[in-house]
Formats: sequence, C-alpha cells, structure tokens
Amino acid sequence: MNIVVVGSLNMDLVVRLPKIPKPGETLLGGVFNTYPGGKGANQAVAASRLGGHVSMIGCVGDDSFGRELVANLSTEGVDTSHVFVQPNVSSGVALIQVDDQAQNSIAVASGANFRLSSEYVEKAMQAIEKIDVVVMQLETPLETIYTAARVAHQRGAKVILNPAPAQVLENDLLQLVDYLIPNEYEIATMTGFQIQNITDTDQAAQQLLSKGVKNLIVTLGNKGSVIFEGNTNNSVDIPAWKVQAVDTTAAGDCFIGAFAVGLSKEKSVKDAAALASAAAAISVTRLGAQPSLPKIDEVYQFMKERNLHI
Ligand code: RIB
Repeated sequence: MNIVVVGSLNMDLVVRLPKIPKPGETLLGGVFNTYPGGKGANQAVAASRLGGHVSMIGCVGDDSFGRELVANLSTEGVDTSHVFVQPNVSSGVALIQVDDQAQNSIAVASGANFRLSSEYVEKAMQAIEKIDVVVMQLETPLETIYTAARVAHQRGAKVILNPAPAQVLENDLLQLVDYLIPNEYEIATMTGFQIQNITDTDQAAQQLLSKGVKNLIVTLGNKGSVIFEGNTNNSVDIPAWKVQAVDTTAAGDCFIGAFAVGLSKEKSVKDAAALASAAAAISVTRLGAQPSLPKIDEVYQFMKERNLHI
C-alpha cells in the first residue's frame, strides 16, 4: 500500500536551553544542533521507519540544506523523485528552541516550500502508479492541499490532513478529508472553541464533523488522543503512555506518519491510533525531529512491554 506525503521539508536549527527566552531577553548556556525536519518530511520518515512505502512531494532550494534534506529522505527509504529543486530561494528553515520541560517554540522561514504548486502536485501524483493514502499538513500553499485532496479522491485514496500550523479551512476542503488530525491548539483555532476539557473537545469535533470531515482524531499530548468517527457518533479514547519526555518536536508528525502506516496496512482506526500513540511516546524521549522517530521493532517492543497488542 503506497503512502504519498505532500508537504514541507525544513532544516531545523535547534537551541536547547533551560527555558525559552521572553521577547527582548537573551539567554546563554544553550546547546546547538541541526536536524532534518519539516512537518511533511518528518511524517514521511516516520511512516517509512515503521514499514510504510512512502513517496514525498515537495520543494527544496538549490542549496546545501536542500541537498542534505533530500539525501536524508532517500537514506530513510522515502522516494524523493518528486522533490523539486527551486532556484533563487532558500530551503525551508525552522529556528527551534527547546526547554528543560521538553516544550518548544518554532519559527519557520518557508522558503522553497511555498514554491510547491498545484501543477507540481498534479504531475507528481499522476506519475505515481498507485496511491492508497495521501498525507498533508499546512506548511505548503493551501491551493496545493486542495489539488492533492481532489486528486486523491479521484484516485480512490484516503486523505489524512494534519492542520498544522492551524488555520480556519473552508468546508469544500474539509469535505475531502477522511481523517483530520489536529492537536488541542489547532482544533481551537479552527473552530473558535477554547479547549479546556473533553466536553469542549467534543463540541469542537462535532462542529468539524458537521462541516463534512469524515473522521477526526484530536491529539492531546500527554493526555492521549480521542477518535471521533463520523459515521458512528461515538468517540474512543486512546491513552498516552507515561515516558520521560526530553523534546516534543515532531511528536505529532510521528503520530500522523504512524497512523498512515496503520491505515495503509488495513488496521482499524483504533489500532492505527494505538500504534501512533506508542510511536509518538517513544519519539518524545529523544532529541530532534527526524532523529527521534522510532523504527517498527522498537514500537512493537514498547507495545509488548505494555501488554498492548494490535
Ligand atoms: O512539527 C515539527 C516541525 O515543525 C519541525 O521539524 C519544523 O521544521 C516545523 O516544520
């Protein structure tokens, strides 16, 4: 089963320090690293490491970061023949600060990611022989998300949309989405609900389902996630696992990549989300975006130790 990720590639420039500086404040004592990142590329690597067959559609600049990002994806087993190199623009870059509580702040210069056009997406998707699952985020132009969702439907593929960074989306896009996977902050931005408890989450989810989203999974960090299946009116809680978190960057991406693999392997939504929850729990125990993403054996071992069988 083939997974296609339409999305961003960024080089993450990460400073780890005891706390995130306030505006106007300078803090010394940080440790610097670069890691391959970008929500799209992270989701592609997460899916590939968990046994998915993955193609990436995206853009990088004609620079050393771009070359490194593409080479890294290929090493991870992701098909990069539809990653387009753009002249006169830098590759995407994310400036990330991570504090001692494993929280982060992220500033992104999108660069080449915003050169991803509908033409590129359409051409690339036509060239890919079989597409079963399409995974997207919102770090590339919205127009390309529409195109990818439309083509995915024509090809009979499932559409997963991770609405990050969050924005309000039109109903005609939401109606093309099979699985919308926001976090608490993103669903609040999309619906206008303040998310303080499960009732708020439920009301926000119902609003999106009424606009045409088929299924919704709201990720709640260390509180787990909730599945809302549009055709049943039921919600199912997926617990989070207690781990020692050092860096939550890309935990959401890990969840989405793993969920896509679960779907592509025809697992139930509940089992795919359980796999995703275990993979994301492992990812927060390690530093960096892509280096933190686990392999399938690790995830199965993690689940076995917790008596979780899917
Ligand atoms: O979701 C984490 C990612 O967001 C980082 O890797 C960064 O590149 C930004 O896109």
